[in-house]
Amino acid sequence: MNNQKEQNTQWGRYMTTSNPFVHPFFAFWWDFVKQREELRVLEPFVGEGHLPYHMTLCGYEAQWGFNDIRPVTLYEKLEALWASKGQRAVTVTQEDMLLNNGEHFPKGYPIIITNPPFLAKNSAARKKIPYQGSAEDADVYQTALRLCLNNAPYVGILIPESFLTQSLFLDRCWGTIQMPREFFKKTKHPVMLALFGPRALKEVFLKKFEESKEDIIRQSAGVYKKDERSGRGSPGRAHNNENHKNARPDFHKVHLSAKAFGVLQGFLDQWQSQKEKDVNTRELLSTEDFVVFRQDQYLGCYRNLYAWKHAFDQMIEQNPRLRKKASVLCNVANGQIGLFATDSTRKASIRFVKSEQIAEHISIVQSARSVSKIKIEDNYLEQPRAIEDIIGLSNALLEYYRGRTQDAFLTGFQEVRLDGAVRKRLDFVTAKKILLISLGLLKKHQKKAL
Ligand SMILES: C[S@@+](CC[C@H](N)C(=O)[O-])C[C@H]1O[C@@H](n2cnc3c(N)ncnc32)[C@H](O)[C@@H]1O
Repeated sequence: MNNQKEQNTQWGRYMTTSNPFVHPFFAFWWDFVKQREELRVLEPFVGEGHLPYHMTLCGYEAQWGFNDIRPVTLYEKLEALWASKGQRAVTVTQEDMLLNNGEHFPKGYPIIITNPPFLAKNSAARKKIPYQGSAEDADVYQTALRLCLNNAPYVGILIPESFLTQSLFLDRCWGTIQMPREFFKKTKHPVMLALFGPRALKEVFLKKFEESKEDIIRQSAGVYKKDERSGRGSPGRAHNNENHKNARPDFHKVHLSAKAFGVLQGFLDQWQSQKEKDVNTRELLSTEDFVVFRQDQYLGCYRNLYAWKHAFDQMIEQNPRLRKKASVLCNVANGQIGLFATDSTRKASIRFVKSEQIAEHISIVQSARSVSKIKIEDNYLEQPRAIEDIIGLSNALLEYYRGRTQDAFLTGFQEVRLDGAVRKRLDFVTAKKILLISLGLLKKHQKKAL
């Protein structure tokens, strides 16, 4: 290994200096575990011991085991805190947890609490850094998570927020809590605390959560805004509830003609009834359900959020006319519709625009992902106001799509916005679906009017 910096990247040596455990949903999960298991906890990627420190500060007592590939002196605040409680010091066992599919991974702990190394395989290849994950995993954290789940019934783990879009280990996942902006000092990468348990107990857990939900939501208000020193909060820019409205449908932001407004209403009714139908289908298995929090905001159950996306996709799948008739191509220099595909750092701002609104100096290349020009080949575009209507309707649909799914399925764009939500990028597959639906709805309306 050439230098310290590369090794830090390879091993993901970024310590958890803020406290993730202050959330009442974590307390609820811990209480559930406590009633069933001995409180022996493994931190297999312990670093300087920040996680046991935060846990102790919040009053969660346990017997700990520590491992790390490169043990360092434990965080002196942890040793002082434990000494003040008469708690025994623990030494770190030096072991590679990921080697040979976890052959050195300690067995027999009922609980694992950790923040493992993250490193995407493609990023390791680009930086020419050795990749520690299994060949089939796209990120080291996925290999670490799999080993944790194979070795303990209960796992509380900090992982990238993109987990929500990856459909991995969902049968063991019981809940996720997205952490605030600037949770880590050195990166704005969106992360969440994911809580796992045995598959067989998930239904009992979710039922209990339903019974206590109102209390948990009430207690979580402003939870990450409080002072860390008290053990009941962690730093990070507080989110502004006003701005959260941006993630919800807001009619006033898009300009719709009376025609576009009418077809939108019809579509929304259809979407809602399709969603109600879908939520009960086999594809949306309840075993894959879990609780989703964005900091102190309860977003709902995953299955319900997913049902909105599923219904949206179904409506296009079930309508071959929409899929086949029009050709929609992204990154075409003479495209009629522009797309700003990423949010700004401040708020939700992805939008479709007239292509003239894309500044001339922005060149539209094949690999572009943030700004695009999109070409639609369809006779309908020759109608007066056709482009304006498609843009207006697409922006309205996008607003609804983001609001209904709470952005859970859009790709995160590496950081948390100033309003506390994750900065998102609209992938071109979803962008095309939205444009096709808008075009299809407008054409259908025109036919009816004739
Ligand atoms: C993201 S840091 C987190 C440290 C600590 N869990 C925390 O939250 O502050 C990841 C830790 O995993 C350790 N690590 C990386 N690869 C490892 C491996 N293969 N086996 C064991 N530890 C490893 C690193 O040395 C580092 O301390």
